[in-house]
Amino acid sequence: MNILVINGPNLNLLGIREPEIYGNDSLDKLMSWIENSQEGTMHKFKFYQSNSEGEIINILHDERLWAQGILINPGAYAHYSYAILDAIKAINIPTVEVHLSDLSKRESFRKNMIISPACVATITGLGKNSYIHGLREINRILMKQ
Ligand code: DQA
Repeated sequence: MNILVINGPNLNLLGIREPEIYGNDSLDKLMSWIENSQEGTMHKFKFYQSNSEGEIINILHDERLWAQGILINPGAYAHYSYAILDAIKAINIPTVEVHLSDLSKRESFRKNMIISPACVATITGLGKNSYIHGLREINRILMKQ
């Protein structure tokens, strides 16, 4: 299966950025860990990171004929991007939203989950394991199709 992985704004600074919240691994390390995980073995992956809302939307549009499942960490766009919500709805590909940190224990604006309604699942608070749980969820859904 073809899995598109999109990481949103500021996630390029993983490992440097607030490591007490987001962990010590770089984004590259985290993505190759996912690619080589047991859950990832049956998939082909494309990995993207962007700090720009429009670029994330273009990636969703451009990869819509390739991707069979999507794993997205929208970063802060999770809390206010109706445009990314609409893009996920428009392409109609099973999408799981993941977050490293536990949003329920952070600032109140992070409880505003704008994109979640377009996603088949939202997984937060498990650190890098949020991505593996997300992949498991995609696997479960794709197996049923
Ligand atoms: C995040 C949570 C967001 O609230 C924040 O803006 C991020 C990272 C996470 O993975 O925990 O950039 O998506």
